[in-house]
Amino acid sequence: MALVNTKKMLEKAFINKYAIGAFNVNNLETVQAVMRAAKKNNSHVILQISQGTIKYAGIKYLINIVNESIKETDLDIALHLDHGFDFEIIKSTIENGFSSIMFDGSSLSYQDNIRLTKKFCAMAHEKNITIEAELGKLAGIEDEIKVSNKDASYTDPEQALDFIKKTGIDSLAVSIGTSHGAYKFKGEAKLDFDRLNLISNMLEDSGIKNFPIVLHGASSIDKNYVNLCNKFGGKLSNASGVPEEILKKASRLSICKINIDTDLRIAMTSSIRKSFFENPENIDPRNYLSEARDSLENVVNYKIKNILGSKGSCSVNNVN
Ligand code: G3H
Ligand code: 13P
Ligand code: ZN
Repeated sequence: MALVNTKKMLEKAFINKYAIGAFNVNNLETVQAVMRAAKKNNSHVILQISQGTIKYAGIKYLINIVNESIKETDLDIALHLDHGFDFEIIKSTIENGFSSIMFDGSSLSYQDNIRLTKKFCAMAHEKNITIEAELGKLAGIEDEIKVSNKDASYTDPEQALDFIKKTGIDSLAVSIGTSHGAYKFKGEAKLDFDRLNLISNMLEDSGIKNFPIVLHGASSIDKNYVNLCNKFGGKLSNASGVPEEILKKASRLSICKINIDTDLRIAMTSSIRKSFFENPENIDPRNYLSEARDSLENVVNYKIKNILGSKGSCSVNNVN
């Protein structure tokens, strides 16, 4: 099965009221873990790769690992560039077979965000690649860029409608209260669902039907993994994420793509820490990396089954 773009899978998710997991992958083990969980659940999945990961591993290695991983499956899998900003990197993902890209112009002025998103939209659509863009600014850290809480801003619904009309994007990442990384909420965890619904209603009213909205910064930060990490020498104090119930609610609304990276990082790291502690004589990376890969597979499996609702989304019974 070849990679597919995200158009159909997100539309299907919108209609059937679930969300597709977009999991950040960095290497062989992370790709294998996500794909194993997707196969187990007969689920659509988006493998996403950041600019930092392309610099770390090299685009050819990554694309070959991903292509190998989808060979013996007929599942619909998309390969997506997460938070693309650098022109050369975006161009290289288009040339090397990514099926979906995000252009993240959220740090730009509104007009520049429109101008550049439009330009990348044209480049992507020419090759049947879907494009996600972002409006509003999430707090947190991504690719070494830190957005402080005071610089974060929620997505303006009027602007969202105007932006989608002017750019022709396939999905929009919104800022409604989540943030990147392991420290999301100081007090009660809350998302601005009124704002999300307003955006979707305005889109519907203006004739833009079933438009998929994307939720970044959606890790839940499982206390069990945080405790495991800390037990074996980690230092993650006061980490907090998006509660599962909130993500379930979002998936039933217009959120069709849910981005998860930090939960995978914590699961992998805590598993490796534990393995180092318990097997100090071991020097074979395959031992601790397979334990880490198993933990990651469990996390993805759990999310697909219990939170996102995408289990069985590749089966024919799904509407559309
Ligand atoms: O949203 C950002 C993702 O967690 C990717 O992080 O740029 O450090 O690979 P990264
Ligand atoms: P988390 O940091 O919550 O995992 O978010 C990841 C993300 O949004 C990737 O684009
Ligand atoms: Zn993100």
